[in-house]
Amino acid sequence: MFDVKAIRRDFPMFQNNPELIYFDSAATSFKPQKVIDAVMDYYCNKTVNIHRGDYDLSFNVSNTYEEAREVARKFINAQSSDEIVFTNGASSALNLVAYGYGQKYLTADDVILSSEAEHASNILPWFRVAEVTGAKIEYIPLRPDGSFDIELFKKAMHSGVKVVTLAQVSNVLGYILPMKEIAKIAHSYGAVVVCDGAQSVPHIKTDVQDTDIDFLAFSGHKMCGPSGVGVLYGKYALLDKMDAFMLGGGSNARFDICGNILLKKPPFKFEAGTPCIEGVLGLKAAMEYLMDIGMENVEANDKMLVHYLSSKLLELPNIELYNPHSDCAICTFNVKGVFAQDAATYLNTKHIAVRSGNHCAKILLNVIGASETIRASMYLYNTKEEIDRFVKEVAQIDLDKCVGVFL
Ligand SMILES: Cc1ncc(COP(=O)(O)O)c(C=O)c1O
Repeated sequence: MFDVKAIRRDFPMFQNNPELIYFDSAATSFKPQKVIDAVMDYYCNKTVNIHRGDYDLSFNVSNTYEEAREVARKFINAQSSDEIVFTNGASSALNLVAYGYGQKYLTADDVILSSEAEHASNILPWFRVAEVTGAKIEYIPLRPDGSFDIELFKKAMHSGVKVVTLAQVSNVLGYILPMKEIAKIAHSYGAVVVCDGAQSVPHIKTDVQDTDIDFLAFSGHKMCGPSGVGVLYGKYALLDKMDAFMLGGGSNARFDICGNILLKKPPFKFEAGTPCIEGVLGLKAAMEYLMDIGMENVEANDKMLVHYLSSKLLELPNIELYNPHSDCAICTFNVKGVFAQDAATYLNTKHIAVRSGNHCAKILLNVIGASETIRASMYLYNTKEEIDRFVKEVAQIDLDKCVGVFL
């Protein structure tokens, strides 16, 4: 059974900040004790490098590091743990695909198809690829509320499209894209599908074999794990033919004085240099923690929370809600007549943490017609009681109250 009280006891941040309502988990999530213990255990008991030392401690930590790869494989149901590349996060995983695959294989005749809802980390690397290769970027039109329409996607697809790159869940609107259908259509044109899973993998059950996407990027810190670590999943054949844009120790089998380099096979050819070992060990603990709870339960609870918060916000006359059909624990809104950052600063005085601004999705805000919004994003540890307290405070916000904060 999903027991939110028990879950909250796992997170020291709640004991140490009893008044805080944390509604900014889309930025980063809190960490359970199990994850903190895994990181501390590395620092207190086993601070060694991996894949390099000829002694027991190094063998043991190397084994646990490789076990983490297997846990990540299981978490997203990849076929093989060789398809799991550890990176510094979703941004570095997305850059790796853009430079390692896009820059190598795209030409001036090709099109990269994306959407106007993308986070900077899933569009800026492709701008660079377009600049270098001459490939063009095209956008799938969105509905006026910023949601994705599969019929508009079908119309946007054509034989020139070689890469379709989309976030499975928008970090602003929380809509879930039908990746399986998208991949089927994209593959029928011979395009590869890159999925930015930064906001989906922490919240919904991920099965890369079922959806048949080609690449998936996600970050540890948004799913109860440490920051500085993430994953790039890629189908093995694609990883094998991709370039490693970072070279260094650990990723090569040999090199010589003439500049000949023989790289290792994936995933190791992409992991040059000492990785974020404590991050990978912490991410392993985070994935085990989430799997123990069950991602179906996390997803169902998220939906319950977001539907509850949306319904309450829709009742408030002073609120404009931009994503009433959000399915993924994100509500984005404005208080009418009040600048988003002022409202967020006011909420801060009530010990409520939300994010305001453009949320790194600067093109999307033109679509929904608001240059700044407030984003309340929740996770498995949030409660209906917190939502009630939050809504009570939001209902009272007006210009005078916000001006008062700055006096
Ligand atoms: C949709 C989306 N993609 C990519 C990223 C980048 O993730 P990170 O900053 O962990 O690399 C984020 C972060 O907020 C995101 O929300």
